[in-house]
Order: sequence, then C-alpha cells, then structure tokens
Amino acid sequence: MPTKQKPKTIIVSNRLPVRIIKEDGKLAFTPSEGGLATGLGSIYKQGENIWLGWPGAVLNTKAEESQTKKELSEQNMAPVFLTDEDIELYYEGFSNETLWPNFHYFNQFSEFKHEYWEAYKKVNQKFADQIIKNANPKDTIWIHDYQLLLLPALVRKERPDISIGFFLHIPFPSYESFRLLPWRRELLLGMLGADFLGFHTYDDTRHFLSSVSRLAGVGNEHGHINYNNRQIVADALPMGIDYDKYAQTAAEPETLEREVRYRTSIGEGKLILCIDRLDYSKGIPQRLKAFEKLLERYPEYKGKVSMLMVVVPSRDQVGKYKELKEEIDLLVGRINGRYSQLSWTPIHYFYRSFPLHALSAFYRMAHVCLVSPMRDGMNLVCKEFIASKLDKKGVLVLSEMAGASKELSDALLINPNNREQMVEAIREALEMDEKEQIQRMKVMQSTLKRYNIYNWVDLFMNRLSVVKTEQKALTTK
Ligand code: F6P
Repeated sequence: MPTKQKPKTIIVSNRLPVRIIKEDGKLAFTPSEGGLATGLGSIYKQGENIWLGWPGAVLNTKAEESQTKKELSEQNMAPVFLTDEDIELYYEGFSNETLWPNFHYFNQFSEFKHEYWEAYKKVNQKFADQIIKNANPKDTIWIHDYQLLLLPALVRKERPDISIGFFLHIPFPSYESFRLLPWRRELLLGMLGADFLGFHTYDDTRHFLSSVSRLAGVGNEHGHINYNNRQIVADALPMGIDYDKYAQTAAEPETLEREVRYRTSIGEGKLILCIDRLDYSKGIPQRLKAFEKLLERYPEYKGKVSMLMVVVPSRDQVGKYKELKEEIDLLVGRINGRYSQLSWTPIHYFYRSFPLHALSAFYRMAHVCLVSPMRDGMNLVCKEFIASKLDKKGVLVLSEMAGASKELSDALLINPNNREQMVEAIREALEMDEKEQIQRMKVMQSTLKRYNIYNWVDLFMNRLSVVKTEQKALTTK
C-alpha cells in the first residue's frame, strides 16, 4: 500500500469521460464533452489525482488492455475493465433494468433477478479493488451515481478513515418505491459507507433519509446521520452547467453560420425544441401526443409551428428502450402523416447525437424549449437552453418532475401527465410577449450563471471536507 505521497482525489464513476471505439482492430479514444467531465476536469487533471471507471468498450486482449491503461494514465484516468457478462448483468441488468426504473417510479418495468444482483455486487467489488490498490488513507474518493451504490461501504471496509463523498445523479425515490427492491437494505448500507452524500433536490434527500430510517433503522437530525460511530451528512446540491461555455458557443461564428443554414432549410416558422436521451423517463410519447393535440385544437399553427426533436440513442440493448424507440417512430410517423404539407413538416425528428455547435444553433433558433420528463434527476438540457439565449428571448416549458424545476420557477411548469395543461402551456409559450420572455429568462440566467458546474464541484468538495473535519473533532473529544 503506497503511504507517503501527497493526498490525492480519486473520482469514480461507471463510465470514464472518454469512450474507446474499436475501428478495424484499432482503439480510438474519444473524449466526452459532458458537463460532469468538464466540471470535474478541475479536479482529476491535477497532480496525482485520477478518474477511475469503465472506458466504454469490452476489450478482448491483454495488449488492448495495456494500451488502454497507458493512454488513459497520460490523461489522469485509470480503467476498470468490464466483460460482456458484466455489461449484460450489472450495467444493462441491475443498473438499468432494476434500479433505473425503480428510482424513476417505473416499477412495472423493474426486473428483480438474483443474477443481476450478484453481478452488481461483483462489479462494485471490482471497482473497490481498483480504488484500494490506488488509495492512501488520506486520499479523498468521490463516487458517482446509481451503478455504484455499494461502493462506499466496500471501500470503507478496507480504508476505515478515508474521506468518501457520494453523489446521486438520478432521483432518490420515495420510501414507497424504494422498499419494493429486494436488496433495499444492502443498498442503503452500501451508501452509508460515504461521509457526505449529495442529491439534486431536497426531496431526494428527504426520501433517502426516510428510507435510511425506516429500512436500516438509523435516524437523523437535520440530515446528520450517526451510523457505526460515524457522523454522515446527506444534503441537496443541485448540479449546474458550464454556463459560460454555452453562452460563448452561442456567439461563435460556427454556431451563427449553422443557424442560418438550418433556418434556410426548415423555414421561418416558430420552433419547439426537444432534446433527450432515448429513455421512457423522458416522457417523449406523452409530449408528442400533446403536440398532436395542439395542432388539432389550434389549427392556425399548421404550417407555422414545428417541433424539432432530437433523441440521442441510449441503452439500446435494453428491451424497454427498444420498445420505446418503436413507439416514438410510430407516433412521429402518424403525426407527420396526418398533418404534413408540401411546404411544412410538423416534426423534424432526429435519432442521433449532434455536435455542440449544432445544438447551440438549435437552442438559438428555438422559440420554446419543451422539457417534459415523467421523472428526471436534474435535466441539463433546459439549463443549456437558457445559457444559450443571448437575446433572452424564448420560453422554457418544464416538467415539475425534473429536479431543475426547483431552481427554474420562472419556466412554465407543467405536470407531464396532464396533457391539457401541456397543450395550453405550449400555446402560452408560443404567444408570450417578448417583454415577459425577457423578464423570465433574466431571472433564470442569473441563477444558472451563479450556480454553475464549477461552483457545484467546489461546494461538494468543501462540504465533504467540513464533514470529515467535524467527524474527527467528534472522535477526539
Ligand atoms: O442520468 C444518469 C446518467 O447515468 C448520466 O450520468 C449519463 O449521462 C446518462 O445517465 C447515460 O448513462 P449511460 O449511457 O452510461 O447508461
């Protein structure tokens, strides 16, 4: 065990902020442009710090593995290699067919399979082994998300005094949903290995605390949990975006040039923009049906208002995602078939991802951004839309079920199950006068500018260090 080095920070997540793509037997390393990767860049790229996680491809030979280790270590990353079986049972299985639906209140989709659970335990242990190989007792470990709920306790077992932070990027469900999981207690005890646990919203935090108290029998005082003689803190810390990056990109010549090009192709009508990963939690069919209703109820919008819908492929090996893709294809086909004119298409639908400048041009062009998840931990698309609106014109229609709605109360808030309300909110957004648009946008921009991703990272690290210091003070009393 290495001991005498300067304390370092180890970031841990299921995926690394880089993806390996195998092309003609060669490995290509593509960096991820995600917000989390940008924000955490200020940590893991410093000194001896590292980010540990899966590099996004199953590697078959020792030569591939050692090339990967070498390339990644030059970027302060270390791989955790997963097998095809790990991907099937731990990632697609327990993470995305058991936990994901349960945490998003889609319990009818949850699979409770023993072999998924066994694989989840095994892969969390694999991550723990890697951390333990790398970690000194004075290091700080920051673990991310639902794929690694057991990891804090696995690390704590081997490094009793180490600092461990955990952040959950998806909702923590109410006790009534969480208690349906056969392994609920083990999952909670896994999380309680951390010193500080962060959630996007106050509601997520209180759901967690309620489950800890009712299922693990451990109470709390204002988010302070005393467990195994350790003071643990749970609190809400909503994640922000790299605001300046989105604002700057929206002013760049490449974005402006794309905007002109896209506008020339699709005409001057008003645009409703929707951008999501393919996921049933995003409420895509519900929103398509609301748009269809809008055209039916307000025929004056025909030829004048279109939806620009980007669906980014995701988890396409999981059955429910495949079914959803088919449902969306059918709905878009039906609506376009019913309303299209030679000179106007109601829904411009793209099933792929776009580069940053294209997204930025879409944000600029949109009159309305419609973000209508059935449930979402935070939702960063709505924040990116706001940061990209340099002239402050445009309206956000936002689901109350997205964590972001707690910060963005100047959006038009909707319940995505209420189709009537969604239709009328879209209409209100399309008709809103510019003065009101600007007023609302101003407030939301100032919130997001301040609570950006860098601020979030700093707050998290500070909270963790304060919790650790208080813990030490308590034990030396
Ligand atoms: O929202 C949770 C999350 O894990 C994000 O961190 C991630 O960007 C997204 O879901 C997609 O996850 P993946 O492709 O790794 O399943």
